[in-house]
Amino acid sequence: MTDDRNYSIHAPKASGVVLSQSLHRDFTEFKTSSPPDVVGVVSSSSVRSLRKGATELARYFRREFHYDFVLFSEAAHGSHDKDRAFLYSHEPYLRSLRGFRVVPLIGCVSFRWRENDPPGYALQWVWLHPYYRGHGLLSRSWEYFKVRFGEFTVEEPLSSAMKHFLSKQSQTGKSSPIA
Ligand SMILES: CC(C)(COP(=O)(O)OP(=O)(O)OC[C@H]1O[C@@H](n2cnc3c(N)ncnc32)[C@H](O)[C@@H]1OP(=O)(O)O)[C@@H](O)C(=O)NCCC(=O)NCCS
Repeated sequence: MTDDRNYSIHAPKASGVVLSQSLHRDFTEFKTSSPPDVVGVVSSSSVRSLRKGATELARYFRREFHYDFVLFSEAAHGSHDKDRAFLYSHEPYLRSLRGFRVVPLIGCVSFRWRENDPPGYALQWVWLHPYYRGHGLLSRSWEYFKVRFGEFTVEEPLSSAMKHFLSKQSQTGKSSPIA
């Protein structure tokens, strides 16, 4: 029997209040507002409900690219306290998060702290809902990520779309080195 859930992509949801609190906490730490489409910032100390949203998006990433494992987990174990993941939503949820009991999450960009030589940040995975791709979402965040994480690497393997994305960034002088 066919299970239609195997073919559907439902946006996970998170509480508007919890998301808003995560943005506030992040702003307190970094002193600069997160990119325009970002509605939440997840760290190892985030409440489980927020980590759950990122994990569900990581599951879609795994399904689309046929990874053996999910690159994010609800439980924070194995996560460095410097790791940050950015959750995205869309209008009308971008303005007053607290007014919404639940907010749909349509994408996530996950940065990991890597103890390489030299140590630094890496963009480990990014996944946007297909309906919201190609609308400039990642482009609008890119400068912010470069300021925040410095010359971060982008971990392979890269999807075709990501290769094109990075190529466009390098043409416009906004690239980061690739792992
Ligand atoms: C790859 C991804 C993160 C890009 O984010 P996005 O917000 O859709 O990208 P943008 O709209 O900012 O695109 C900027 C530029 O990147 C390039 N680009 C993005 N997606 C592309 C695609 N599918 N094919 C070709 N070029 C693409 C284009 O040059 C585009 O500029 P243009 O719109 O003027 O042509 C997003 O499409 C996505 O989540 N894809 C599925 C998951 C994935 O591939 N993750 C990366 C794994 S390494």
